Amino acid sequence: MATMREVVFVDGVRTPFGRAGEKGMYAATRADDLAVKALQGLIERNPEVPLDRIDDVGIAATTQIGDQGMTIGRTVAILAGLPTTVPGFALDRMCAGAMTTVSFMGAAIGAGQYDLAVAGGVEHMGRHPIGEGADPNPRFVAEKLVDPQALNMGNTAERLHDRFPELTKERSDRFGMLSQHKVQAAYDRGDIQPDLVPVAYKSAEGWGLATEDEGRRPGTTMEALAALKTPFRPHGRVTAGTSSPLTDGATMSLLAGSDTAKELGLQAKMRLVSFAFAGVEPEVMGLGPVPATEKALKKAGLSINDIGLFELNEAFSVQVLSLLDHFKIADDDPRVNVWGGAIALGHPLAATGVRLMIQLARQFEQRPDVRYGVTAMCVGLGQGGTQIWENPHFDGKKGK
Ligand SMILES: CC(C)(COP(=O)(O)OP(=O)(O)OC[C@H]1O[C@@H](n2cnc3c(N)ncnc32)[C@H](O)[C@@H]1OP(=O)(O)O)[C@@H](O)C(=O)NCCC(=O)NCCS
Repeated sequence: MATMREVVFVDGVRTPFGRAGEKGMYAATRADDLAVKALQGLIERNPEVPLDRIDDVGIAATTQIGDQGMTIGRTVAILAGLPTTVPGFALDRMCAGAMTTVSFMGAAIGAGQYDLAVAGGVEHMGRHPIGEGADPNPRFVAEKLVDPQALNMGNTAERLHDRFPELTKERSDRFGMLSQHKVQAAYDRGDIQPDLVPVAYKSAEGWGLATEDEGRRPGTTMEALAALKTPFRPHGRVTAGTSSPLTDGATMSLLAGSDTAKELGLQAKMRLVSFAFAGVEPEVMGLGPVPATEKALKKAGLSINDIGLFELNEAFSVQVLSLLDHFKIADDDPRVNVWGGAIALGHPLAATGVRLMIQLARQFEQRPDVRYGVTAMCVGLGQGGTQIWENPHFDGKKGK
C-alpha cells in the first residue's frame, strides 16, 4: 500500500460465537451487548492504551436496525465506557463489514489522520435474520440487473458447483469435514481460546458463561455429510455441513500507526501491507475473493507464492475451493485455514473479518518462518475483500 506511514494490527478479540436461533446461547442477549463485551475485553487486555487517544470506533453490522442500529460504533463506545470525546460510526458491506472497517481505519492511519482506532463488527443472526427489513429495488428484477436467486447466498454457492463441475460435492464435503476437525484440533491445543472474551448469558436454565464457540461438530464424518439435505436446491450439492451456519457474535480490533504503537509500548501483531475489494457477478458471489486477491497482491507487489498463510472465510466450502483452484492451491494445502474456519466456528456476517485477522495474527506468532499472510472473504451481491499482512515475527531465515 502506498502509505506514508506503517499501519499495525495491535490486537484483536472476539466473543465466543453462538448458534443463532431460539436454542442458541445468545438468544436472549442483545447484539450491542455482545459488541460491548468484545470492546471491553480489548480495552482490558491493552491497559497501556490511553482511551482518550482513540481517534474513532468503527463497528460494522449488516442489519442496522434495533439493537444493531443507532450508529452502533458510537453506542457501543459509550456503553463500553470509552470517554465521550471518542467518536464512533457504523458501516455495512455485508459479510466484509469488519474487514472494510479495518481497511478504512488502516487507510486513515496510513494517511496520518488517525493514530489509534478500534474496528470491529457484530451480527446477531438470531435477532436479525439475513435480509430482515430488506426492500430490493424492483429494477433489479425488472431490468434483469440481478437474478432474484442471487439474493440467496446458498443459491450462489450452488451456481459455483454448476459453473465448475470439477468442484464436486465430495470435495466440498471433505473441505467441510476437515474444517470441523481442524477447529477441534486448534481448540485441543488451546490456540483459539486466548482471544475469546467470556460472555455471561441468560437462558431458560438460568445464567451461563460462554467460553467456546457453540456450533462446532468435531465428530463430522463424510458418511454423515453425504446424507444431509440440500436446502437450497432439490438434489443440490450444498448442505448445512458445507455452509457457514447462522451465528451470533462480535469481534473487535485495535489498529495503530507503528510510531504510535512504539510510543505507547504496544506490540504489533501484524502489519497491513495492502487491501482491495472487487466485484463479480452477484450470481456467483463466492468468486469475489479471486479478483480482490489479485488486486491486493498487485498493489503489494507480491505473487500468490509469497503468501505463507491464508485465512479464507468459509461462507461455503465450494466458494473457498473456487479460489484455491484459481490459484492452483490444493484443497488440503497446509497454508490454508490451518485452524479451520467458519463452517465450524460460525460466520456472524459483519463480524467475521476480524475473526480471520485474529487467527492469522496468532499463527504469525507461532510461525516466524512465514512473512506474508492473507485474509479474504466473499460478500453478498457479488463482491470480495482481501488484505495482505506482514508478520513482524518473521525471522527472515527460511520460508515465505
Ligand atoms: C445451510 C443452512 C440453511 C442450514 O440451516 P439449518 O437447517 O438451520 O442448520 P442445522 O444446523 O439445523 O443443520 C441441518 C441438519 O444438518 C445436520 N448437520 C449440520 N452440520 C452437520 C455436520 N457437520 N455433520 C453432521 N450433520 C450436520 C444438523 O444436525 C441438522 O440435522 P437435523 O435436521 O437432523 O436436525 C444455514 O446454516 C444457512 O443458511 N447457512 C448459510 C448462511 C449464509 O448464507 N451466510 C452468508 C454467507 S455469504
